[in-house]
Amino acid sequence: MNPKLDSLLSLTDEIMLGRVNGWRPDPELLSPSGAYRGALHVGVDLGTAYTVLIVLDESKQPIGGAYRFAEVVRDGLVVDFVGAVDLVRQLKAEVEARLGVPLESAATGYPPGVAQIEVRATANVLRAAGLDCTGLIDEPTAANNVLQIRDGAVVDVGGGTTGVAVFRDGQVVYTADEATGGTHFSLVIAGALDISFEEAEEIKKDPRQQTRLFPMVRPVMEKVATIVRRHVANHNVETIYLVGGTTAYPGIDKVVEEIVGVKTIVPARPLFVTPLGIAMHNE
Ligand SMILES: Nc1ncnc2c1ncn2[C@@H]1O[C@H](COP(=O)(O)OP(=O)(O)OP(=O)(O)O)[C@@H](O)[C@H]1O
Ligand SMILES: [Mg+2]
Repeated sequence: MNPKLDSLLSLTDEIMLGRVNGWRPDPELLSPSGAYRGALHVGVDLGTAYTVLIVLDESKQPIGGAYRFAEVVRDGLVVDFVGAVDLVRQLKAEVEARLGVPLESAATGYPPGVAQIEVRATANVLRAAGLDCTGLIDEPTAANNVLQIRDGAVVDVGGGTTGVAVFRDGQVVYTADEATGGTHFSLVIAGALDISFEEAEEIKKDPRQQTRLFPMVRPVMEKVATIVRRHVANHNVETIYLVGGTTAYPGIDKVVEEIVGVKTIVPARPLFVTPLGIAMHNE
């Protein structure tokens, strides 16, 4: 596994939340005005819950980014083309203003198993937003650009889906994607407490409320774990690595480990692993 994983992910979180002090650029790569002039690697992740744009410097360290909750994509398929283009354009403009450089090209990702025509639609969103699409990568392979595991399963639990990829000697040998994710957690909370989906989303992510809400969401975690168990059953997997926003919910690793019966690891900040790996794919 990537020995620098934790520091890379905490730097990414700082950058994404706008606390950019973590980044110390090579002075030779700054123009007199302070703008960065080295090579850039840009990634766009059109997710069911969050659309994310991340910018890396020459050495593939994060230097800028922005993200927003938006319902423009559902389970890997672009359902609101105009909305998606508009959003990517906004995120691009925000990050350009902050970094002082234009962004010209980007990579993007797709869940394994989606049709080529849908993958093309994702690339077209970037183009329409003014970014040349120079890289397309499936999401688990992108996540593994960051994790760098050789053997085991990478499980990406996002807003809409749970994606599973099994790696052998660093190569993907099996993938699957099923419709259960963080949105279902929020729907269960909204139903149980008779509150709106938006309110449920907020309290679900609040660390002070997560212990109290745990019994409500545990059955959905079990559903995720059952999906994982079914997909890794025939693959002799020794370790499961969880990524994606939903795996930031404390305790999900234990539920998966218990139900699948395989050692399960979740990095301290799993939300931006896949978009970070997508950006690494933009050469
Ligand atoms: N701290 C947190 N605790 C629990 N859930 C969280 C936390 N932070 C984010 N989430 C949830 O993670 C989900 C978003 O994760 P992510 O960005 O990985 O998904 P996505 O890429 O938009 O969706 P998908 O991959 O399914 O298309 C949302 O459901 C959000 O509520
Ligand atoms: Mg995702």
